[in-house]
Amino acid sequence: MEDILNKAREYEKENESKMEGLRPSFHLTPRVGWMNDPNGFCYYKGQYHMFYQYHPYDNHWGPMHWGHAVSSDLLHWEYLPVVLAPDMEYDKRGCFSGSAIELSDGRHLIMYTGVSETVDENGNKTECQTQCVAVGDGVNYVKYENNPVLTSDDVPEGGSHIDFRDPRLFEGKDGLIYCLVGNRSSDTSGQMLLYKSADGFKWEFVRIIAQNRNSFGKMWECPDFFCQDGKWVLLTSPQDMEAIPGRYNSGNGTLCLIGNWDGEDSDFEVENNQCIDNGIDYYAPQTITLADGRRIMIGWMQNWDTCNNYTPSDLWCGQMSIPREVTVRDGRLYQVPAKEIESLRGDLISVLNMKLNGEYSAEILNGRKLDLTVKVRPSEGKVYDNFEVRFFQKDNNYAFVKYNTHESMVTLSREFTGVRRAIVNKTSCSVDNKGGEIELRIILDKYSAEVFINGGKYAMTIDVYNDQSFDGISFVSDGEALIDIEKYSLDK
Ligand code: FRU
Repeated sequence: MEDILNKAREYEKENESKMEGLRPSFHLTPRVGWMNDPNGFCYYKGQYHMFYQYHPYDNHWGPMHWGHAVSSDLLHWEYLPVVLAPDMEYDKRGCFSGSAIELSDGRHLIMYTGVSETVDENGNKTECQTQCVAVGDGVNYVKYENNPVLTSDDVPEGGSHIDFRDPRLFEGKDGLIYCLVGNRSSDTSGQMLLYKSADGFKWEFVRIIAQNRNSFGKMWECPDFFCQDGKWVLLTSPQDMEAIPGRYNSGNGTLCLIGNWDGEDSDFEVENNQCIDNGIDYYAPQTITLADGRRIMIGWMQNWDTCNNYTPSDLWCGQMSIPREVTVRDGRLYQVPAKEIESLRGDLISVLNMKLNGEYSAEILNGRKLDLTVKVRPSEGKVYDNFEVRFFQKDNNYAFVKYNTHESMVTLSREFTGVRRAIVNKTSCSVDNKGGEIELRIILDKYSAEVFINGGKYAMTIDVYNDQSFDGISFVSDGEALIDIEKYSLDK
């Protein structure tokens, strides 16, 4: 086969300078071209590694490679050469998502889905997904000579051979390596398959640990599975979700299941479910535990339903979210910006205890790269129905996050940002009814807003590719409210 890996390495090196000035300030973007899911997010040899689904040649999805970047603080990333290319018979249609683990001998193992095609007796081509591994030193990776390590023979009866992907490796207490793989079950909905291995190369099917039974979407993509604050947490990104107003959006969504798991002899018992991020642009997150015990999550900050007709530029598409610290409290996943983000802050500007009835803005609060916290409460004896923060604003063009006190609903929208295309433009999230009180922390970078509500109990994320000179911020209340604003500029 042609040297597809080196061709990609040459290409990204030659073309990355075209990205100068285009990238957001502190969100990871592809070295050049297209990025989707985070892959193999890990700490290895003294650095954080982020691999990602990558098609360097276009701003649209194509035959998947694995791009690579490293960081010491999860915010400043340095690109390393692409590590995987679709250059084998078993992955010639793409090296799909996967994860990474350090082997006991110090080598780095990545496991990914190899997509190939099979041809039946009538000449019809079907896609086939298998799990493959590659071993490396944190820069260069060699595909295992006996790939694939998990094939359709390892899928339990009724499980799809076409939708069998996104292996998530994790260490067991017993010294074994475990792996969860997303699969489509015989009723066409999603299930999670558990495998185990002593060395990372020879794998054995253990059991189906969770099944969707058509209740949360169809195929479950991109699992992540970990124990946090005494609970087991399964993150997955279901395709074909049905909307539950205020709780889940339709289409490609995110799902967090919280419960208990007693190890390989038991199923995962689910106690609670929630959407991970109720905005438009968040998918396929992966997590790691840092040395200080914090669990950090990064997701793909984009949505399959809009990425074909809503791209930032001809040269690139796709960003990763900021690192978010996740905790489990009262059966819920909370997420807040990882504290590393505070290192990007400039001076604090605050406006406290301000009575607002109408619209307020001040030049000094403007910007497109901000860490902005707004706390709102009703003014004594008064009520307000809606409170809104408008951002990326110029005149009548703006994105907004709006809190409706009657419905206890937060809406995040880009419908008025000057976008001409008919795309999904807004989503809503049901939040606690706290008598008209709400806290919104909004992280803005050049093309995105990540909103953390009530201490991270809810999160909503949206991409906004409007004119960079639209940097106005305003606050609007339709009845008298008391507001506190704290604003920091963020820059690298
Ligand atoms: C999710 C996904 C994965 C797959 C990858 C392909 O976004 O569809 O299931 O591995 O993208 O790029």
